[in-house]
Amino acid sequence: MYYVTQGIQTPIMKIVITGSIAFDYLMHFPGKFSEAFMADQLDKISLSFLVDTMKKHPGGTAPNIAYTMALLGSHPKVMATAGQDFKEYRASLEAVGVDTSAIVAIEDDFTASFFVSTDDEQNQIATFYTGAMAHAKTLTFAQYAPDAELTIISPNDPDAMRNHAEECRKLGIPFIYDSSQQTARLSGEDLAASLQGAAMLTLNDYEYNLIKEKTGFSDSDIREQVGGLLVTKGKEGALLWMDGEEYHIPVVPPKEVKEPTGVGDAFRAGLMRGMELGLPWPIAGRMGALAATYVLEHVGTQNHTFTPSEFVARYREHFDDEGALDILL
Ligand SMILES: Nc1ncnc2c1ncn2[C@@H]1O[C@H](COP(=O)(O)OP(=O)(O)OP(=O)(O)O)[C@@H](O)[C@H]1O
Ligand SMILES: [Mg+2]
Repeated sequence: MYYVTQGIQTPIMKIVITGSIAFDYLMHFPGKFSEAFMADQLDKISLSFLVDTMKKHPGGTAPNIAYTMALLGSHPKVMATAGQDFKEYRASLEAVGVDTSAIVAIEDDFTASFFVSTDDEQNQIATFYTGAMAHAKTLTFAQYAPDAELTIISPNDPDAMRNHAEECRKLGIPFIYDSSQQTARLSGEDLAASLQGAAMLTLNDYEYNLIKEKTGFSDSDIREQVGGLLVTKGKEGALLWMDGEEYHIPVVPPKEVKEPTGVGDAFRAGLMRGMELGLPWPIAGRMGALAATYVLEHVGTQNHTFTPSEFVARYREHFDDEGALDILL
């Protein structure tokens, strides 16, 4: 069995983020979907809903994580695939300091796109188009990021996630296995094989129970196979288990809650920035919690902004870092 538990808390220079790149198209239907369906004619549905608002948000787990890390002064490299409609998005990521040189544009396809219409009763009809994301399985660290010193394998095309984990084990690249929302889609076999030897496994509490159910692993089975574990629990905070120690990471109270999508990605970004700087686990974890709170206070996953000094000042309103965060200033 292969373990990568040592050495990831020394300052790391090259962080590589893998995961999906997507656009979210969010629409509102003024009315009730249920009134348009006829119970006796469900075998020939042909419906069109006239929506009155549409917002297009940049998203995808890889840019979400990279964006927040960049706000914290990092320059992570994203390794992922996008489509012909990615040009502007690439420029905006580069503008905040994300290294997009390993984002491969698939010219004859679109960036993965999530179309969701919500009606007046919060019912949703959604379609997710995989698009360029289906090509992510062709990317290799050997070709695009041979100098990676820490990577995260976040939700993406299932074959890409499997390939990335296998390659990391082969090349000895410490990796965070972040099956998160793809835990529902991946088979127990896939999950069991991919989490082997991960430096850390990251999930929310629902996904943590799901991975145990799908793999048949107990808590201790999982802890024997990974170097660390992050289980986030919404407003209850998070559990971080690293180097044999368990830490409870409290939440940072939000000023207002606008929309929770992307809080998990932001948590990972804050945590990884702390790792990159070699900060103690309780501090790195709290950086994750604070980054998540910023996302909670905004609609969309990349609409929050802060400077490193604003971030540190807000951190110090809630926690004592004993000066450790001066490194961000
Ligand atoms: N209501 C809240 N108040 C304060 N902090 C919160 C709240 N909800 C979430 N957080 C912070 O965000 C972290 C991640 O939350 P959660 O466990 O809900 O992630 P998630 O289910 O993966 O979310 P998503 O997949 O939508 O991004 C929590 O550990 C916590 O620090
Ligand atoms: Mg999540």
